[in-house]
Amino acid sequence: MQGNQSAKIDVIRRQLSACGQDHLLSFWDRLGPGEQAGLAEQIRELDLDKIPTWVETLVRHAPQTPVRHEEFRPAPSYGIVPRTDAERRKYADAVKLGKELIAAGKVAAFVVAGGQGTRLGFDGPKGNYPISPVRNKTLFQIFAETIKAVSRRYRTTCPWYIMTSPMNHEATVRIFESNDFYGLDRDCVLIFQQGTLPNFGFDGRILMADKASIARSPDGHGGSIRALARSGALADMKNRGVEYLSYWQVDNPLVKLFDPLFVGLHATDGAQMSSKAVIKNDPKEKVGNFCLVDGKVTVIEYSDLDDSLAERRNPDGSLTFRLGSIAIHIISTDFIEKLNTEGFSLPLHRAVKKIPHIDSQGNPVEPAQPNGIKLESFIFDALPIANRSIILDIDRAEEFAPTKNATGVDSAESTRAMMVDRAARWLESAGVTVPRRPDGSPDCLLEIAPSFALEPEDLKVKLDQIPAIQPGGQVYLG
Ligand code: UTP
Repeated sequence: MQGNQSAKIDVIRRQLSACGQDHLLSFWDRLGPGEQAGLAEQIRELDLDKIPTWVETLVRHAPQTPVRHEEFRPAPSYGIVPRTDAERRKYADAVKLGKELIAAGKVAAFVVAGGQGTRLGFDGPKGNYPISPVRNKTLFQIFAETIKAVSRRYRTTCPWYIMTSPMNHEATVRIFESNDFYGLDRDCVLIFQQGTLPNFGFDGRILMADKASIARSPDGHGGSIRALARSGALADMKNRGVEYLSYWQVDNPLVKLFDPLFVGLHATDGAQMSSKAVIKNDPKEKVGNFCLVDGKVTVIEYSDLDDSLAERRNPDGSLTFRLGSIAIHIISTDFIEKLNTEGFSLPLHRAVKKIPHIDSQGNPVEPAQPNGIKLESFIFDALPIANRSIILDIDRAEEFAPTKNATGVDSAESTRAMMVDRAARWLESAGVTVPRRPDGSPDCLLEIAPSFALEPEDLKVKLDQIPAIQPGGQVYLG
């Protein structure tokens, strides 16, 4: 038995040594049997064949791929309001179709929640962050309540797929269990894990988190394509007859899930993966840019959009490259299936990070400066692979509040303010008076639960349930 084990480890050692990573076994002889089994499993999960290429092309140096600026064209989009009679008819038909698809259970919610949320600095899965302005509901609770309200409206049960990572999976499952799945049908909530990728030192050697484990991180939101298939989520979707995924990121509580117009336009145009966009606030806003490259919708990172292109303007003064990516998509399940049957993987990107690890003596190192590379893939890299891809540009104030940081720009603070602003606009559009300060901001805290209203029109039939809002007061509508 023992001989068998040592033969196995010799094979692993040779494989590691062939790709310059045999230091992963430096402490092997000092590990207990359980730790050895764990480490051997982690090594088995590494894509050893690919590691030398990653080290050469991504880790030791930043990739040298030239950016093809001259080939970028602005991507076309649908506006949130139709511009012509033909568009008006198309939008009306799309909304009708979108509603039919939702009611028929063909649309599922899909949130990616496997990130590490380091910028927010919150202990635990980001989805458990309390965000709502009056009741302090968590992100997960807001989404769950929205899914419940949509299901009720369409007399259906909308399934919800949640991607976690090995770093937060158990904690996420515990949160859902201890909240009784927020009143959702447990069978319709599927929580599954994405994969991980090893972290590297600048010298190309994989870092060890401790003597028995490799330093790893989730493989990016692009990892969802593979994880959906590997985890069985895709098969589950097929069983349920789900054909479209309404994809969003866990840190955006304003997201409009199951948007009939968006779903309907995607389906009418026969798109495989579609996106919502916002009009950029300024030429160099730090969002990905929707461009056409070789005729395909492609997201170009802000750092890769040449200043001359970023600043270019149309005759009417608007930015030529004006569509910013906000990570809200509709993805057809047959597209995900197709990607997975072709042995495909999305390109990897490098991020220079501070990565805690142990040194060659086994002593823990907490780096004060970036010391290594994390690799990840991005979901938007699937866009140019889609046969067809449409973009709907929407009103940022209505649908996009990214909660990335604890304070300042894109923070919990700014998200709460946007939630109050949106509630104030919805109430005013229904004829309710909202006290405002001299600078125009609402002089009150407001929160509208999804069960009360999913859109402004829902408020108009509930005016008798809305109390007068006092200056400095707070109102929860639920
Ligand atoms: P971010 O790029 O904001 O990363 O993820 P993050 O990990 O949440 O936060 P920082 O950068 O450490 O502060 C955008 C969305 O993609 C998900 C996140 O959970 C979030 O919903 N994501 C990111 C994954 O699901 N997996 C990943 O590997 C990375």
